[in-house]
Amino acid sequence: MQKFLPLLGPVSSVIGAQWGDEGKGKMVDILAEEYDVIARACGGANAGHTIVVNGEKHVFHLMPSGCLHEGKQIILGSGLVIHLPTLLEEIETLRGYGIDVSDRLHISSEAHIVFDYHQEVDGALEEERQKKTGEGIGTTKRGIGPAYTDKAARTGIRMEHLSSDITSILSSQAEFVQRAYGVTIDLDKEIRHIQAAQKTVGHMVTNTVELLHAYRASGKSILIEGAQATLLDIDHGTYPFVTSSSTTLAGALQGLGLPPNCVTSCIGVAKAYCTRVGSGHFATEEEGEVAERLRSRGGEYGSTTGRPRRTGWLNIDDLKFGTALNGHTHWNITKLDVLDEEEVIPVMTNNHMTEIKGWKQSTAGITDWNALPENARKYIEIIEKETGVPVSMIGTGQGREEMILR
Ligand code: GDP
Ligand code: IMO
Ligand code: MG
Repeated sequence: MQKFLPLLGPVSSVIGAQWGDEGKGKMVDILAEEYDVIARACGGANAGHTIVVNGEKHVFHLMPSGCLHEGKQIILGSGLVIHLPTLLEEIETLRGYGIDVSDRLHISSEAHIVFDYHQEVDGALEEERQKKTGEGIGTTKRGIGPAYTDKAARTGIRMEHLSSDITSILSSQAEFVQRAYGVTIDLDKEIRHIQAAQKTVGHMVTNTVELLHAYRASGKSILIEGAQATLLDIDHGTYPFVTSSSTTLAGALQGLGLPPNCVTSCIGVAKAYCTRVGSGHFATEEEGEVAERLRSRGGEYGSTTGRPRRTGWLNIDDLKFGTALNGHTHWNITKLDVLDEEEVIPVMTNNHMTEIKGWKQSTAGITDWNALPENARKYIEIIEKETGVPVSMIGTGQGREEMILR
C-alpha cells in the first residue's frame, strides 16, 4: 500500500534544513519504496548518508539513498561533482550485498569529475586559511570546492569527457595547478582511475535531463534527493562557512534540469535538536557536558570524516528561513528519541531561547503519533505552529521502520 505518494505527489523532494546530517538518507530510503526514480541533484562525496536496514548500516557518499531498493531508477544529476574511485567503491559494496545497479544507474554527462588533485588542493587551501586566519572552513577535504571552482572557471572536466583523451586535458591543467597551489598532479594515478571508471560506469553516462523529462512524460514518480543542507548553501548559508553548491530546492532543480512547477512537495528534514560539522556560527550551540550528552545519545560523529559533530538545540528561526527558501510543505523531524532523557529542552525562536518541558520517557521505535508522550507531541506542535508547516514524519530511531507518519 502506498502511504507517502498520495500525500506527497509524483515529484517530491527531500531537503535538509540545518547544517546537514539531519537524516535525509533515511527519509529518501523510506520514500524510495514508493517512487520510481530517485535523483540526487548536487554536491559530491562530502555527503554521508546513513541508512539502517535490519540492523545493518549502509553509508553512501555519492550513490542516491534509494539505491538499496531493487528495480528503482537512480540518477546522479548534472549538479554533482563525482569522485570516480568513490563511486566505483560504492557500486562494488552494493554488489557485495547482491545489489546490482549497472542497468539502472544513470550518470549525467554534464556532471563534473573530482580528481584526487582536487582533494589535495582542498587540503592545501584549508592549510592556507588556517595559517592566515587561524580558522579553516573545516571542509571534508573531498575536493568539492576546487572541483566547483574548475566548473565555474570553465576549466572543469565533465563525465562526457570520460571517453575522450583525458591525459592531454589533465596535462594541460598540471602546470597551472602546480603554480597556483603547489600541488603536483599524479597523472598516472588519475588516468588509472579514469580507465577503471570507463569500464564500469562508461555505459551509464547519459543525458539525464532528457531522461528525467521522459520519465515525467511517461507518468513515473520522481524523488529528488538533496545533499548538504540549507544553511550550507553557497549563496544563502553562513558564508564563507558553507559548501560550494546550491543546496536548496531551487539548487536541486537546477542540478537536475527540472522546472520549479513540476514539484508537488518539499520535505524539510530537521533534527529535533541541531548539529554542525566544521566551523562557523551556531547560535544554539552547547558546550561541555550537555554537548557531549547530545553527541553520545545522537551518535553525532561525521559519517564522512568521523569528526565529532558540534551539538546544540533546535533553532526554529532556521526552520522558518528554510521554509522561506525552499517552500517546505512537510517536515520530517528526526531523532526525537535523542531528547528522551532531557528534563527541559531549550529551543530558539524569534531570536530568543525558550525552555520546553521534556517528556523523560522513551520514544524509541514508536510509530504511532498517539503513542508519543504528551510533552513530545507538544514539542512537535510548537514546531508546526511556529513554522506554519505540518510535521508529517517523525523519526524515533535509525531503522527504516522507526518513523511516525501522521
Ligand atoms: P544525512 O546526511 O542527512 O543523510 O544524515 P546522516 O546519515 O549523515 O546522519 C543522520 C544519522 O542519524 C544517521 O546515523 C542515521 O542513521 C541517524 N538517524 C536518522 N533518523 C534518526 C532517528 O529518528 N533517530 C535516531 N536515533 N537516529 C536517526
Ligand atoms: P550531508 O549530505 C554535514 C560541511 C563541511 C564543512 C563545509 C564545507 O551528509 O548532510 P565541503 O567539503 O563541502 O567543502 O565542506 O560543509 N558539509 C557537511 N556537513 N553534512 C554534509 O552533507 C556536508 N557536506 C558538507 O563539514 O563545514
Ligand atoms: Mg550526512
